[in-house]
Amino acid sequence: MEVEADNIGQGGVVKLASACCFAAAVVCAMPVQTALAAPPRSAGAVSRGLPPGPTNIPLRVLHAMAKPAVDFTGPEFTALRDRSLERLKGVLKTWQGFVIAYAASGHGAWDASIANLFSPGDKVLVCQAGYFSENWSTTARQYGLEVEAVVAPDRRAIDPNAVAERLAADNGHAIKAVLIVQNETATGMRHPVAEVRAAMNRAKHPALYLVDTISSLASYDFRMDEWGVDLVVGGSQKGLMLPPGMSFTAINARAWEAAQNARNPRRYWDWRTMVEGGRQLRFCGTAPIAFFYGLDESLDMIEEEGLENVFARHRRLAEATRACVRAWGAVSPRGGGPEIYPLDAEAASDSLTAVLCPPGHDADRVRAIASERFGVALGRGLAALQGRVFRIGHMGELNEPMLLGTLGGIELALAEAGMPHARGGVDAAMDALRAPATARIAAVA
Ligand SMILES: Cc1ncc(COP(=O)(O)O)c(C=O)c1O
Repeated sequence: MEVEADNIGQGGVVKLASACCFAAAVVCAMPVQTALAAPPRSAGAVSRGLPPGPTNIPLRVLHAMAKPAVDFTGPEFTALRDRSLERLKGVLKTWQGFVIAYAASGHGAWDASIANLFSPGDKVLVCQAGYFSENWSTTARQYGLEVEAVVAPDRRAIDPNAVAERLAADNGHAIKAVLIVQNETATGMRHPVAEVRAAMNRAKHPALYLVDTISSLASYDFRMDEWGVDLVVGGSQKGLMLPPGMSFTAINARAWEAAQNARNPRRYWDWRTMVEGGRQLRFCGTAPIAFFYGLDESLDMIEEEGLENVFARHRRLAEATRACVRAWGAVSPRGGGPEIYPLDAEAASDSLTAVLCPPGHDADRVRAIASERFGVALGRGLAALQGRVFRIGHMGELNEPMLLGTLGGIELALAEAGMPHARGGVDAAMDALRAPATARIAAVA
């Protein structure tokens, strides 16, 4: 099996994007209204363009992490650990669950969820909607689970009714859990987490509900308790603005109970050795101390901006990106240029935009030109979408000028690659950014 990270692929990593220089120039020239409407972010970020993770790491976070390691059993670290994990619950909107962190990438948190919750032969229902949900299924299969799938229609989100139908037919309750990825990073698609929970309730099915929030956490809304989620998988390198290599699971009472009876082998991931009294007190081995310094700082930044403002910023930047792609696509009244991958507007993600290139045109050529000529790193198409899609990340540490610089670089790359597109994408993005700003300023006046 090929295991890929969601990164910029084989293309060279460009050290300092032109987008960043552009950003610096535009920040200086920003009119007061724009600055008022959008609290300036990213003053110290080092941008490499906008891949959908790992995202820009703020200098504040980098500096916070650059500290000597302390005794991970001593009071300084344990206070930092407890504080950070407690505050992370606010981002997940859980007051009933608790969070366990791992020194591992998101794949590790997938492993932890499957290892702790299930026994060989258990059946799970996966909402299959792209590369990452398929890979979570692969993890489950490798632990000896039987995996059934509800498959999303091409370029559309999971249909909650299809989940309800499958669960309603499971009279004997053989299905132990429903697994979904809130934001499928391969397709730039958001999937209906609350609606799938409602479908599970309609079917009166007792399955556990597991949600991967790796590319949605701290980018758009997620409500663990309200949406009846039993286990959440999260990662460091996207909305939390940390380096890759730390991941989390949030666990409620039902999931904790399931873990006591599960028979899957587990050592590194074993919650029972890490948790006491509903709190993580230990790691399997040495604690990832530097990550906690970074997490504490990134949570400070999120709290300073306000979580709902963070979401609003992501929505604003996503809408600008989508306006840009729609403008590129309007080669003729019937389109003909690049398209936003999700067909339904409400399924388009606020953390990244997957751009489907016209048939016969190579998305990887655009990526290569964007990277080599303009210092703009983009995500590649994964698995079946390789060469057909490029992905623009707009999550984490990002502001308007950084986005506009990147979109400008992509527009130049589209032209150089000879890909059919209409000009004016960046103008369309600026129009999208102006509209809500004007409304907010009017409200303040
Ligand atoms: C939605 C989603 N799930 C899981 C993963 C796997 O995370 P990692 O690459 O940190 O192992 C990713 C990575 O990008 C992802 O986007």
